[in-house]
Amino acid sequence: MFSMPSSSEHASQSPGREIVLPPLAANSSTWTNVAAAIRTIVEDPTLEMYFDEYPGEFDALSKQVDRTVDAAFEQHDERALADVHAILFALYDLHVAPAASMRTHNQFNPYLTRLRGSIERRWLGSAALGEIAPVELRTPQELIEAICSTSARHRASKHPLFDFLETQATQTQLTEFFRSDSALNIRFFDLIVLALLGSDPAVRGELSQNFWDEAGKGDPVRSHVTLFRNLLLTTGIAPAEDDHASLLNWQGLAGYNLFMMTGLNRSQGFKSLGVMAVTELLDPSQYEKLTRGCRRLGLGGAGELDYYDEHVSIDVVHAEGWLSNVIVPLAGKFPHRMNDVYVGAQWRLNTCAQYYDDLHESLLRLA
Ligand SMILES: [Fe+2]
Ligand SMILES: [Fe+2]
Repeated sequence: MFSMPSSSEHASQSPGREIVLPPLAANSSTWTNVAAAIRTIVEDPTLEMYFDEYPGEFDALSKQVDRTVDAAFEQHDERALADVHAILFALYDLHVAPAASMRTHNQFNPYLTRLRGSIERRWLGSAALGEIAPVELRTPQELIEAICSTSARHRASKHPLFDFLETQATQTQLTEFFRSDSALNIRFFDLIVLALLGSDPAVRGELSQNFWDEAGKGDPVRSHVTLFRNLLLTTGIAPAEDDHASLLNWQGLAGYNLFMMTGLNRSQGFKSLGVMAVTELLDPSQYEKLTRGCRRLGLGGAGELDYYDEHVSIDVVHAEGWLSNVIVPLAGKFPHRMNDVYVGAQWRLNTCAQYYDDLHESLLRLA
């Protein structure tokens, strides 16, 4: 059993600190403390020096994180899963945080990087990313066919959530769907930027086209973030600093974290290609159902559905572009990495289905 100094001890040991580390409870019944603690300490610009001076505090924090990770990935404890993914969300956010925010000082904090790496290794080593169908891929064309057919057969691609949204959802349930969709949609621009970093010159044209579409082809009013924020405004959803991420269950956070884990880690770059391509494949037909459901409830007269309407058509183009102009040339150049692309595609399908299952259940409970 380890013990953490109380917050008053912290203050006396390090005079002049503006932010005092919260005491971290050793009791595993208080898992939410560790996620909340990490969300707080990432805002402290002196955190690295503090852990240098008090290494015992970092060890205690690591042990607490380890216990939470054990409970999440070995016992499938839902609270622990929520905490682990909330921690990862906070650590990934350091890399896309506004430059004016205090947490930017911790972007490359070695202690936090070590914590993130240890969580990611356990996540990747667990069964949490779902079943992966083995398949032998010999040519880029076989890879594309495997991605398309697996995606078409997967429950994520014709999920009952969207039939429900089309035909039965109330205005309140629809609004909750938009709120839940916020964190990923608003951060998608950054995900495309991550795909561009270190990319093979041969695929930069396609990635740049995707990036340009996301940026509204240079018109800030038409940028996808602006279009989505307009929809939130119209439906009465007030802006939130974390884009409502804190309201997400672990399934929603895991879906977002998969993008960030594969987008930020260069070693996961081929998996990221599969994650991104599948996203474009999944959206058009399901967004079509969603927009019909919105219009059934009277939305759409003032352009507030432009975000989803645009993705119904443009994501067909993006999906074709990712497959033919990004994945095919890279699979031809690096044939031994084709399986990684396929694994990434399946990770996205699996996490997406878990998210849709959970969101569907949550919306039904709202009725
Ligand atoms: Fe978009
Ligand atoms: Fe797209």
